[in-house]
Amino acid sequence: MSETTLDTTRLEAFGQQMGDVLNHGTLALLMNIGHQVGLYDALAELPPATSHEIAGAAGLQERYVREWLGAMTVARIVEYDARDRTYWLPREHAAFLTRAAGPQNVAATTQFVSMLAEVESSVVECFRRGGGVPYSEYAEFHRVMAENSGAVFDTALIDAILPLVPGLPSRLSAGVDVADVGCGSGHAVNLIAAAYPRSRCVGYDFSAGGIAAGQAEAAALGLANTEFFVRDAADLGEHERFDLVTAFDAIHDQAHPAQVLAAVWESLRPGGVFLMVDIQASSDLEDNLEHPFATFLYGLSTMHCMPVSLSLDGDGLGTVWGEQKACQMLTDAGFSSVETTHVEADAFNTYYICRKG
Ligand SMILES: C[S@@+](CC[C@H](N)C(=O)[O-])C[C@H]1O[C@@H](n2cnc3c(N)ncnc32)[C@H](O)[C@@H]1O
Repeated sequence: MSETTLDTTRLEAFGQQMGDVLNHGTLALLMNIGHQVGLYDALAELPPATSHEIAGAAGLQERYVREWLGAMTVARIVEYDARDRTYWLPREHAAFLTRAAGPQNVAATTQFVSMLAEVESSVVECFRRGGGVPYSEYAEFHRVMAENSGAVFDTALIDAILPLVPGLPSRLSAGVDVADVGCGSGHAVNLIAAAYPRSRCVGYDFSAGGIAAGQAEAAALGLANTEFFVRDAADLGEHERFDLVTAFDAIHDQAHPAQVLAAVWESLRPGGVFLMVDIQASSDLEDNLEHPFATFLYGLSTMHCMPVSLSLDGDGLGTVWGEQKACQMLTDAGFSSVETTHVEADAFNTYYICRKG
């Protein structure tokens, strides 16, 4: 084949792939809407039903619901019987689309796609002029993050994640000092404090809104063993105060991640443990070709995690900094051992168990 001849098989396959982009990109936005207005939850409870019955069950406008159902039908998410114009959600599909699905609910995760679309023009400017996009431009970030991480915490934090560290649940029962760095809306802090009333739990975040949400939840739960502080994680200012420090998806988007890891190390007592949870990926692009969520992660990185760091003149590590880079930075911060493991309920993350010797 000469260099100027196109491979028609390859050409057609790529054309098909490009068509899929239009369909799937739009589908993500429609799935977000379906999640927000409770359509998947309503469908999961209904037998085959007309658009009027589905709209009635969800308390929504029939014309909009019917158009959305059209999209869901051609996307093969919802089944349709043309004879009586009924729609239904197969149970195998509901397992990935409803609130009852917890951390498997992909419809909840599509909210991140819409969130990225909201800052598109700012990111375009960054491509042209450099700089970044501050957290404050992502109006929905903390709500969406809390909903997604909360599903994992509710399912697995106490029963599967904390027991990753041998002996940790019994030490927490006896009473130790715990900090969560980049705690967002503070749900993990409150769950640990509620499960282990003898332990003292502190949440740090530089988001005043996140800290207020954590304080409000602690008050609603009547917890007396939590504290929340608006503080820069790079400047925790704590010396050998904690036995356990956690960071759930809160290192890769830091402006100064090496300073944060050093501050975490400094805040731990000798023998203390840092449980760092961060995106599961390789540091080498070529190893991520078969990663099931790689495009989503590089997209999140380009439009959120990297620009929020760069907006503070930060390192811009990016979402896909990867396990090799993470282990190197943890070792550089002083941790004497770093082990990695995974949790079934959390498809996105690697769990790093880091010890201060
Ligand atoms: C991806 S979110 C994770 C939030 C929470 N851990 C969760 O799993 O829901 C990262 C968090 O780190 C916080 N953060 C980023 N840079 C920070 C800094 N320099 N100091 C304190 N918090 C920071 C953000 O406000 C955000 O709440």
